[in-house]
Amino acid sequence: MQDLYRRAARDIAGARHIVALTGAGISVESGIPPFRGPGGIWEKLDPMEYAHIDAFMRDPARVWRALIADMKAVLDRARPNDAHKGLVRLEQMGKLKTIITQNVDGLHQAAGSSDVIEFHGNFAWQRCLACGQRVATAELDMAEMPPRCACGGIFRPECVFFGEMIAPVNLSRSQNAAAQCDLMLVVGTSAMVQPAALMPAIARQAGATVIEINFEPTPLTGQVAHYSLLGKAGETFNAILAELAAESEAGPHAEDIR
Ligand code: APR
Repeated sequence: MQDLYRRAARDIAGARHIVALTGAGISVESGIPPFRGPGGIWEKLDPMEYAHIDAFMRDPARVWRALIADMKAVLDRARPNDAHKGLVRLEQMGKLKTIITQNVDGLHQAAGSSDVIEFHGNFAWQRCLACGQRVATAELDMAEMPPRCACGGIFRPECVFFGEMIAPVNLSRSQNAAAQCDLMLVVGTSAMVQPAALMPAIARQAGATVIEINFEPTPLTGQVAHYSLLGKAGETFNAILAELAAESEAGPHAEDIR
C-alpha cells in the first residue's frame, strides 16, 4: 500500500488542477452512516420508499419520522474528519480547485473548502412546500412531524430526492470541472448513482488521472480509475500527505542525491 501512497503523492505533486468527487464514505469517519455497503442506511430502509420525491409527497410525516429526523440528529453532531481536512490541505497547496460532492452534510465547507458543488443539494436548509419560505434546518421546531411553516405548509429539505432533477447549474459546473481537471480524486462513493458517477469517466475521457479512494471496490475500480487505494479515507489522506511532505523535503531530484 505504501507504493500506492507514494504513487498518489507523486501524481498529486505533478498535478496543476485537481477536482475531487466525494460521496458518503468520506463522512463515515465523522459518524455519518453511508447509504450502501456495511452499515448502509439503504440496508434498513428502501430508498424508493423513503428518498423518492413521490414517497415524500405521498406521506411527508412518514419520511420525516423514518429518515429526515434521524439525519438531522446525526448531522448536528458531525464534524469534518482527516479526509475533509486533507482536501483543504490540497486546496491550500494550490492543487485542488473544486469539490463535487454528493453529500448534503456541509462538512467540506465546515472543514474550510472554498469551492464545493453540492450535486445533491444540502440539508442545511428547508423550504416550505406551500409558500417557498426557506429556514435553516438548525432552527426547525422538531416538536411536530412533519415540521410546518408559519403559513401551515410542510417543510422539505433542500436535498435532491430520487426522481428529482439535479440543478442544471450544478450539473454543468460539475461536467466542466471534470473535463478541465488533470487529476480527479474520487473519494468514498459506490459510484452507483447517475449522473454523479459519470464525472470520473468525463475526467478520464479528457485525459485526467483518476485515483479512487474507497473502503471497497466499486464499478470504477480497474475500469475508470487508473488505480484505487482501498481503505478508510481519513487514514489514506494522512498517508498520502505524509508522502507528499517527504517528497518535498527530499527536494525535486531525490534520486540524484544518492
Ligand atoms: N472511507 C472510505 N470509503 C468508505 C468509508 C471510509 N471510512 N466507509 C464507507 N466507505 C465507502 C463504502 O464502501 C461505499 O462504497 O463509501 C461508499 C459509500 O457509498 P454510498 O453509501 O452509496 O454513498 P454515495 O456513493 O455517496 O451514494 C450516492 O446515493 O442514496 C443516494 O443521494 C444519495 O448521494 C447519495 C447517492
